[in-house]
Amino acid sequence: MSATGLFRGRLLWFDREPEGAEDTAAFHYVEDGAIAVADGRIAWSGDWSDLPEAFRSDDYSDYRPHLIVPGFIDCHIHFPQGQVVASYAGSLLEWLNTYTFVEEQKYGDPTHAQSMAGRFLDMLLAHGTTTAVAYGSVHKGSVDALLGAAVARDMRMIAGKVMMDLNAPEPLTDTPQSGYDDTKALISEWHGKARVEVAVTPRFALTSTEAQMEMSGALAREHPDCIVQTHLSENHREIATVAELFPWSKDYTDIYDHYGLMGPKTLFGHCIHQGPREIARMSESGSVAVFCPTSNLFLGSGLFDLDKMRSVSPHVRHAVATDIGGGTNWSMLRTLDEGYKVLNLQGQRYHPLRSFYQATLGNAQAIGMETSIGKLKAGYEADFVVLDVASNPGMALRAETVSTLSEELFLMQTMGDDRAVAATIVSGVTAHRRDKA
Ligand code: GUN
Ligand code: ZN
Repeated sequence: MSATGLFRGRLLWFDREPEGAEDTAAFHYVEDGAIAVADGRIAWSGDWSDLPEAFRSDDYSDYRPHLIVPGFIDCHIHFPQGQVVASYAGSLLEWLNTYTFVEEQKYGDPTHAQSMAGRFLDMLLAHGTTTAVAYGSVHKGSVDALLGAAVARDMRMIAGKVMMDLNAPEPLTDTPQSGYDDTKALISEWHGKARVEVAVTPRFALTSTEAQMEMSGALAREHPDCIVQTHLSENHREIATVAELFPWSKDYTDIYDHYGLMGPKTLFGHCIHQGPREIARMSESGSVAVFCPTSNLFLGSGLFDLDKMRSVSPHVRHAVATDIGGGTNWSMLRTLDEGYKVLNLQGQRYHPLRSFYQATLGNAQAIGMETSIGKLKAGYEADFVVLDVASNPGMALRAETVSTLSEELFLMQTMGDDRAVAATIVSGVTAHRRDKA
């Protein structure tokens, strides 16, 4: 699957989080750029006029005047929830019990899981997302299907089977031992194969017994190179229920801490209602708070408060994600837009340079993959997305008056969706083209 190829267009990638609108040293922008790919990696990138002779060819993909950025990274998404999106529910627990825990039972059927796996990855690619950190269903086969399909596409993908042995319908429960054994088997079969990894995935404290939490901690200890993912502090009823289940805990965060589940490899979805002690522990442990704006709005969960987090601890890590199917759109552009609004509602500003940094290199840093993905730099894996700022009539009208890069990015995130994705390149192969979709 690894490819050789040459691409031309405007290039943008980040070296670090921009401090503000004027921080031009944080990124590279090339007005007429070239990306040469060899063996699935970027062999050279820079000014078209400087392209070394060895990479020159008349046969190249000409994406001018579009903007090429690193492929988007979605740090929290549920594979079995593509057909749960837009289910009419008031709040998290009603939504889980009424729709989600019903739908996820279908993924016990390997044929269904396999047919949905290809559709899930195609959906990501159509939205410009080249890497995701995904929750499977409780069934090991759901993750076999997803990671198998990712290997076939040579996509960078991280996934885990959810472990849940409490407060869920019987067909959706495992046991502490079977959850442990299935996760171990997934790790030995998939972790490090091609470009895929396995994540230790206790769903959340509400659906795990103490015994299962202990087994999750053992998995995290035994596999320190695996990402750990779970949900934390999303909804008030959820928080009250876990406090009853774990009466000894100081707070919700303390439960995961107690079982050894915090650390730089841990992604905590939501983190909306944490107090200062919890935020300080997030920061101290290097854990990542994953901001899921469309989901938090749709389920009425609350407003992620980045300034509050950073006022407690300036270095607390965060990421951004769709959280399909609590989230309402597969597009990281739509997600950035809703994220901007959530912060703006609280009097906080998030500059478009920061948004695009976050959806690319920032999320790569959150999952510890910043030396492999998230930049258009020689040596990086050749995953990128071609964005068209005039991809619908409203955008085209507004684009006529756009004169700076920041304005263009802001228009892209405010009005863009999958129509703005002209092409998605994975391991140097054009995996999606809007005009051929
Ligand atoms: N908490 C536990 N499971 C889920 C889930 O599937 N979606 C969301 N948004 N929150 C959860
Ligand atoms: Zn989730």
